[in-house]
Formats: sequence, structure tokens, C-alpha cells
Amino acid sequence: MNVAVSCLQSPAAAREELYDKYASRLVTNRRLDRKLVSFQGNRKLPFYRWFKYKEGYSADFVRYIIEELGVKPGVLLDPFAGTGATLFAGRAMGWDTIGIELLPVGFFAMEGRLAAETADPAAFKRAVAKAQAVDWEARYDSAFALSHVAITRKAFPEPTERAIAGYRAYCSGIRDARVKKLFELACLAVLESVSYTRKDGQYLRWDHRCKRDRLKSHFDKGRIEPFGPAVLAKLREIERDLSAGGRERDSLFTPGGKLQMGNVDLRRGSCLDLLPRLSSRSVDLVITSPPYCNRYDYTRTYALELVFLGADTNVISNLRQAMLSCTVENKTKVAALRDQYERGGQGDAFDRVIEAFEGQDALQEILAILEGLGAEGRLNNANIPNLVRNYFLEMSFVLYELSRILRKRGKIVMVNDNVRYAGEEIPVDLILSDLSERFGLRTSHIWKLPRGKGNSSQQMGNHGRSELRKCVYVWEKP
Ligand SMILES: C[S@@+](CC[C@H](N)C(=O)[O-])C[C@H]1O[C@@H](n2cnc3c(N)ncnc32)[C@H](O)[C@@H]1O
Repeated sequence: MNVAVSCLQSPAAAREELYDKYASRLVTNRRLDRKLVSFQGNRKLPFYRWFKYKEGYSADFVRYIIEELGVKPGVLLDPFAGTGATLFAGRAMGWDTIGIELLPVGFFAMEGRLAAETADPAAFKRAVAKAQAVDWEARYDSAFALSHVAITRKAFPEPTERAIAGYRAYCSGIRDARVKKLFELACLAVLESVSYTRKDGQYLRWDHRCKRDRLKSHFDKGRIEPFGPAVLAKLREIERDLSAGGRERDSLFTPGGKLQMGNVDLRRGSCLDLLPRLSSRSVDLVITSPPYCNRYDYTRTYALELVFLGADTNVISNLRQAMLSCTVENKTKVAALRDQYERGGQGDAFDRVIEAFEGQDALQEILAILEGLGAEGRLNNANIPNLVRNYFLEMSFVLYELSRILRKRGKIVMVNDNVRYAGEEIPVDLILSDLSERFGLRTSHIWKLPRGKGNSSQQMGNHGRSELRKCVYVWEKP
């Protein structure tokens, strides 16, 4: 394959060709507004509102997709389950669901949600009533203090640090496993609001009041809640949702009360490891959103929550490497994937995926250009070409597996954003659609959200104000 960019050919020739191939299927879908395709739509919903996962989409989005596709309940998979919108909205519509999630934070929230469905609301209410008068700081026990890592040290005011340790000690004594899980979830859910940090775009921002050495910050996050009232408010919110009476509660799970609720099968780990273990033609529908190719580091953004769940520096750095590559720190997983496929007697499948990846001309065009820009020192990080390569290579494996697992006429719906580095737009939507077709899928639609994503201010200055597409792809197995 010739990836050299000759002066006779447009430097974006392969991307233009790919655009022409999909132009007729790229349509704006006015129903897909930001609220539906982001966590915003969940902010006030019972259960979903307990732990705000900004990377998620709304339960209404899942319902909309299922209704719009007109599909009958079967097996619904989300290989990047997050906090489980696909699973919980899907099961309420009668689907048996399978969710894979690597980050312990999302996994814990899903376990909490499952615990909530079978917890005794009266037992929880009693536990909250008992807890409301507890002085958490007075319960301080060093055995339950958070074991911080470098990026979380001094994240909390001292009294909050002690109160969290006291609360954890108290939780360790709760005998009802479901009530205990929900108490722990309440704490996890308030960590950001009681800390000096804020999850902001790609990073954790630090408030100027924190006592970290050498921190120069002018950022003021406003009121930092004291731990006791914050956790009590969260416990009460959970209590209210659990106790919501008969019809309201049922309607959350089974619209109209007509359908049998489906199962939820949660699998902890990387979908790169776990998808190959699912049987061929065993899934009817996939609704998912992978990490985007945008340098977003979940392990940094969720460092406080990871530490709360017991992760140390090693665990965090192993997680970062195991996540679908979307940071400049990720190293290639190609040797491990080859080994995994060969050990499973799937060497041919490995070769097929690599061939599809290497044969995607638009992607190779971008990689060649990014490498050229890197060599000239024009990228703000020299590892950006590796990030893009690793991302699409791993996504090629995901797409291969999803196609294999899908039943005939099964569908995949994927939410993802296009990205741009040093002015070079990466049409993630078109590249992934083309890759999925190499594995036997057909692209029915690439639905554009009415509003795309603006550039970063720095890029706007350099490259004009063009929007990047935010899209929902619908692929089908013929
Ligand atoms: C965009 S979020 C999905 C959010 C989800 N749709 C929701 O509504 O909560 C992507 C998720 O993929 C997870 N993830 C990243 N790499 C993974 C991997 N290799 N295997 C499984 N999950 C992974 C991240 O932890 C994150 O929760």
C-alpha cells in the first residue's frame, strides 16, 4: 500500500474517497441532541443520578435506539459498559444484557445499582436513620484511611480525610451486604464534591486552597462541601429512590409493567480479553460507546474514586495500560494480542484483523501525516501518532469480535466523536465504519448529532472554526 503523500495527490485523498463512500449515509438526526447522547439526560433520573458518570449516555438514548430500530428483546451487549445505562435501560425493556467494564469505578456503580434492586428499602431507611447522628471524624480509624497515590495526595481538607476514614470504618461493620454496598456507593459518589478537585475536560483541576506543594492554581471551585452533610444528602437521595412506591418504582424497571425484566450479566475486565470468550452468533444487539481517541485519561480523572476502591500506583498504571488506548502513555498491545489469539488457536483471526487495519488507507494516510508532523516537531506530543495507531488497532479487534458475536441481522450502535490533531481531522466515524465492513458488517446510517464539537481554543486560532462530527453509527450484520 502506498501511503506516501505525493505532491500530485491531495494530502487528504484517502479521507476524501472515504467521505464520498459514506456521504449518502451521513445524515443529521435531530432527535440526537446533547441531552440524549450524554449523561445530562440522567441527571434527575432515580438510580442513575446517584453517581454522575460524565462519560455516559442517557437511559433515554438506549430506549430511543431500541424503539427506533424496532428490534424485539434478545441479548444486548455493551463491551464498554461504564455505569450501565445500556444494561439497565435494556433490561427494563425485556432484554438480557451483558456488560463488560474495566474501570473499577463504573463496575462498582453497576454492582451498587444491582444491590439496589434487591435491597430492602426499610432496612436501608433504618440504616440511614442510625447513621445520621454519627460523627464521622470521631470514628476515625487509621486502618481505614485512604492510601493515597501521588496524584491524589492532599485532595481533601484534613477533617474530610479523617471523616472519610471514619465512614469507611463504619461501613465495614454493616452486616447487610446490599446496604453496605449502597453506603459505600454514597461515599464514592460524593468524593469529588468534598475534595479540592473538579473533573474538568481532560484533567482533574485543583483548587488553589489545597495544600499541594508547588501547585500554582488560580482555580476556585466554590463551596467545598463538608463530608457529613454531603454523604447524608446522598444517602437520603438513595433512600428516596429505593422507597419510591409501587407503580413509580415498577415503571422504572418495566415500562407499562408488561415485560419481564431481563438479566444483567456483569463481566469485569478488558473487552479485548473478554469478547473473544463470547460465543459466535450469541448477541442480537450491541449499544456502546468506547473511549474516544482524544487523550482522555480515565485513570487520572477517576483517581480519587480508584483510591477509595483500594487501587495503588501499580494497579492504576496497569489499568491505564489495559484500557483501550486513548492516552499518549499507552504502549502497543499488539504482541499481547498476537499471543492471546495464537494461544487460543486464532492466529488466522489475528492476521485478518491486522490486514484490515493496515489496509485502511485513510487511517494509514493520517498516520503518515502525523508521523511527518511529529518529525518536524509540530505535534504537541510526540506520541500522538502512536496513540492514534494503538486506538484503531485495538478498535479493529473489538469490531472483529463484535461482528463474530453478532447474530444474523443483529445490529451494533456506537457513539463516538471525531478528533483532530495539529489540524488533521481524523474521521473516526468513517474509518470505523469501513473497518467494520471489512469484518462483514454493513453501515446502515452514520447519524450526526445536530451540533458537533468545537475545536480547542488553541486549534481554533490555528485552523479555523470547523466543527468535528459527533456521531452514532448503526451497523448491521446482513
Ligand atoms: C464512553 S465510556 C462508556 C459509558 C457508558 N456508555 C455509560 O453510559 O456509562 C467508555 C467506557 O469504556 C471503559 N473501558 C475502557 N477501556 C476498556 C476496555 N479495554 N474494556 C472494557 N471497558 C473499557 C471505560 O472505563 C469507560 O467506562
